[in-house]
Amino acid sequence: MKETDILVVGAGIAGLTFALKTAHRRPDLNITVLTKTNREESNTRYAQGGVAAVWNFETDSYKKHIADTLDAGDGLCDEDIVEIVVKEGPERVKEIIEWGTRFDKHGAEYDLGREGGHSENRILHYKDFTGWEILRAMLEKANTMPNIHIHDHYFAIDLISQHHLGHVLTRLNTNIECYGAYVLDLATNQIETVLAKMTVVATGGAGQVYRSTTNPVIATGDGIAMAYRMKARLENMEFVQFHPTSLFNPAGENPAFLVSEAVRGFGAILKSKEGEEFMHNYDERKSLAPRDIVARAIDNEMKKRGDEFMCLDCQHLDKEKFMAHFPTIYDKCKSLGIDAFKDFIPVVPAAHYVCGGIKTDEIGATSVKNMYACGECTSSGLHGANRLASNSLLEAMVFAHRIYEDVVEKIDEQTIKKGIPDWNAESTSDPKEMVLITQSIKELKEIMSNYVGIVRSNVRLKRAADRLYLLFRETEQLYMNTTLSPQLIELRNLITIGYLITTSAQMRRESRGLHYTTDFPDKLDWVETLLR
Ligand code: FAD
Ligand code: SIN
Repeated sequence: MKETDILVVGAGIAGLTFALKTAHRRPDLNITVLTKTNREESNTRYAQGGVAAVWNFETDSYKKHIADTLDAGDGLCDEDIVEIVVKEGPERVKEIIEWGTRFDKHGAEYDLGREGGHSENRILHYKDFTGWEILRAMLEKANTMPNIHIHDHYFAIDLISQHHLGHVLTRLNTNIECYGAYVLDLATNQIETVLAKMTVVATGGAGQVYRSTTNPVIATGDGIAMAYRMKARLENMEFVQFHPTSLFNPAGENPAFLVSEAVRGFGAILKSKEGEEFMHNYDERKSLAPRDIVARAIDNEMKKRGDEFMCLDCQHLDKEKFMAHFPTIYDKCKSLGIDAFKDFIPVVPAAHYVCGGIKTDEIGATSVKNMYACGECTSSGLHGANRLASNSLLEAMVFAHRIYEDVVEKIDEQTIKKGIPDWNAESTSDPKEMVLITQSIKELKEIMSNYVGIVRSNVRLKRAADRLYLLFRETEQLYMNTTLSPQLIELRNLITIGYLITTSAQMRRESRGLHYTTDFPDKLDWVETLLR
């Protein structure tokens, strides 16, 4: 059993921002940070386009960034939260610059990029590997802080609550408390109890629930699934963002390689493989319309034309500037025999971002006492029905900061809970056949991709729900009898994520933002929604 003042599950931009700030202000506190594989692997690491923030006040304004975010969110953003994030964002970006993050410049000024749905150039970036650069600076800083203890290969299995003391909890309980987490130490294969006065869930996304995703293999929605099991409030799980342009690779690749939206912001144009433009048929912003519109348009064109991919045309762009801004994308294309200046880049939509998740309030608190959450695992109210490009790194930093302010004020009133039992692994044995797990993961991804993807319908959702229930029953059986492994925990979590996305989609009887269903193709106003 381990005791720590603060447990942070996750070392992406959200978890690290919180840990760095808290460790600096309160060197007396012990902060334990967990990663399920290693600290370099997270969605943060792969962020390409950059961080959206109002930077040039001569051309841009908070009002414009707020309007763009609300427009993308299609009526479901929390306007107060949008204002908080947009107005506090630039301050948070300045802080990470002070911590050593580099962003590209033109002379003395930052080079601000453009992405879909933005009415101004406001994306700070470092070439096409902004996330890697932010993570580098944060991890280097964390190394200098003696009270931050990052544990790699420490896989959180479940968040601890009164449930583990034998109490029956339901979603109606308003007094659920978090006492820490049960964690599988992958070096020893032992399950440890980590108790904390306060816990911050920062476990990132869940793209791996789909066959094709830009998210790394660690993105299995563990935090959302753990929070769901502990009866925390969740919302908006039906809104899964598909990035319009992952690189089409006939050999298949997990994760799918992203061709940043910043490439379209730089001037690349979406075309069919015959060279025909099509985006003007869908939105006046053409290739730079918000993601939900572009992804649906590409999906529709692929189905209409019977093509496996659409294309990005970069041939007219300035080669030198392109190579300076997008070296990784250029090299990746080259490695597949595609010369971005002679050939079209073949692209397809891929699951990219979960807009819903653990419901948090304006300080990042969840419905569970002493448990906060920030980053992609949350539904903060910023993204509504569709996230505006490059708003997520910003959101993670803003709420990590707000949580830090609340935690340093309240932590001295908290104590570590006594009497928590150790994990009970009695009557379990090693898995006899890994295929029972790997095949179920494959089936799950097929179900979600074919029935709960960009375009949905009542029949598809019902099929998905029925098949997910079968997988759920089989997996729970396995879970009860088998020694825990990361694969089994991830399968169980992914089934929960699939179930949450599917049932949330079934409940939304309209099409809005990222949720499009052929049975209810129109957007309803709230009165109509209530009446249905
Ligand atoms: P992550 O960075 O994913 O970190 C999650 C952490 O939680 C990891 O350390 C992981 O090990 C840990 N963890 C998870 N489960 C467990 C567990 N069970 N036990 C222990 N530890 C666990 N957003 C933008 O704003 N701009 C962009 O340009 C951009 N580009 C992107 C490009 C790609 C290819 C992808 C995939 C995403 C992109 N995004 C972008 C989205 C953005 O990167 C993520 O939303 C953001 O980085 C999430 O940060 P996070 O800290 O919430 O989670
Ligand atoms: C991209 O670079 O296209 C990804 C940006 C994002 O997901 O916000």
